[in-house]
Amino acid sequence: MNLRIFENIVELARAAARTIGQREHASVAISGGSTPKPLYELLGRDLRDDDPITWVLVDERYVPKTDPQSNAAMIERTLFAKGVPPTHRWLHFDTSLNDPAATAAEFEAQWDIDQLDIVLLGVGDDGHTASLFPGTAVLDIEDRVASEVFVPRLDQWRVTLTRPVIRAAKLRIVLAAGESKATIIDEVRRGVPHPIAMVTEGVETWWFVTG
Ligand code: 6PG
Repeated sequence: MNLRIFENIVELARAAARTIGQREHASVAISGGSTPKPLYELLGRDLRDDDPITWVLVDERYVPKTDPQSNAAMIERTLFAKGVPPTHRWLHFDTSLNDPAATAAEFEAQWDIDQLDIVLLGVGDDGHTASLFPGTAVLDIEDRVASEVFVPRLDQWRVTLTRPVIRAAKLRIVLAAGESKATIIDEVRRGVPHPIAMVTEGVETWWFVTG
């Protein structure tokens, strides 16, 4: 496991921003959750018109953008606090359609990316990543870019990039902060087939964690 341990979330965010800057990053998929917020604030400070990026949302909770749970809204408050630069593209899930399957299909219709350069992922205490939760059928999808998924544990619909699309990216960076993630990381290292392991095993993945 390619693991880098940082003192705190600020150091982790700085290192992740540097890594993104140094790698090819014409297309970057970005996750929701709380861990990446400092990174997005950092990246948002110097988005440049002459460095155009297609930003892709990894997954979305099926709530209106006005809901505090909305991943797109969190990203628009942080990464795009100064707006989406005109040369950049922001591909996300339109939950205003009020139909998770239609939202996933519309997202797929807009998809024209051969291979993502970088995917930023989080990991949940149950081993989920993106909205690929343990035991959900969406984990088995091989022939779609995105899909709707009902997550019984949360009693919530979500829309998410699929496992093959995340695996096909040139690089995955998993951001994990806090004690509660240590157990999962240890289990992944020992070969437990959590969803995060299913999307990262055998493909280039860097783990950025706080100690
Ligand atoms: C989401 C996600 C999800 C997230 C993990 C980790 O919409 O919730 O994209 O996969 O990355 O749950 O979340 P934290 O960073 O908040 O721990």
